[in-house]
Amino acid sequence: MIELKNICKEYHSGGAVKALKDVNLKIRPGEFVAVMGASGSGKTTLLNIIGCMDRPTSGEYFLGGCKVDTASAGRTARIRGKKIAFVFQHFALIEDYTVLENVMIPLLKQKIPQKDRVKRALKALEQVGIADLARKKAADISGGQKQRAAIARATACSAEIILADEPTGALDSESGRQVMDLFCRLNKQGKTIMLITHDANIAAFAHRVITISDGRIIKYEKN
Ligand SMILES: Nc1ncnc2c1ncn2[C@@H]1O[C@H](COP(=O)(O)OP(=O)(O)OP(=O)(O)O)[C@@H](O)[C@H]1O
Ligand SMILES: [Mg+2]
Repeated sequence: MIELKNICKEYHSGGAVKALKDVNLKIRPGEFVAVMGASGSGKTTLLNIIGCMDRPTSGEYFLGGCKVDTASAGRTARIRGKKIAFVFQHFALIEDYTVLENVMIPLLKQKIPQKDRVKRALKALEQVGIADLARKKAADISGGQKQRAAIARATACSAEIILADEPTGALDSESGRQVMDLFCRLNKQGKTIMLITHDANIAAFAHRVITISDGRIIKYEKN
């Protein structure tokens, strides 16, 4: 269970920005939630806090009953490594590594033999339709292919929560639909999914759509 209570986030680089204001949210295990809202409304900030990449300025955050807003940096890093997989807005692939090496990075932290790591990474690449690009450098593939590689990297590890920041942003509508089919499959396998999108057709795949405006959640809708 993800539970946010009165979460606020302020940034202080060149004047204060209140990116999140009094956000309350509960997400049950196995839920599939889409987040919508204008550019700059606070979507990525919310995802980063849920993913333990960033801390709230105030408010409480419980993840699986554990209070993470005040946990030590080491503890939050362990929680993140074990439970959470990210698909970043700008892919965050290591350009000099091959696609396969990129997908294997989160698996290195888990105690899996090298051979099985390769197998799992290849399977994840197959699921997103780019197994044939496994040995190519990330620098040498297209934007849409990078998007798929980033999704494969998130799905290859056994994290129970997948946080995806516009995972279909760089894809044409048919590829986007295929990626959403994959997220739906992962969700049926029990993964909790939270996905940011600007596209109502993509949000329609989720169980619930949350709308953020100027740092506040203004709508919680069931699909
Ligand atoms: N590291 C930061 N330092 C200062 N301000 C920040 C930082 N990150 C985000 N902000 C500000 O916080 C607000 C929310 O940003 P955020 O990235 O969460 O928006 P978003 O909804 O994800 O937008 P987009 O759709 O463009 O990705 C914006 O006003 C942004 O300029
Ligand atoms: Mg964003």
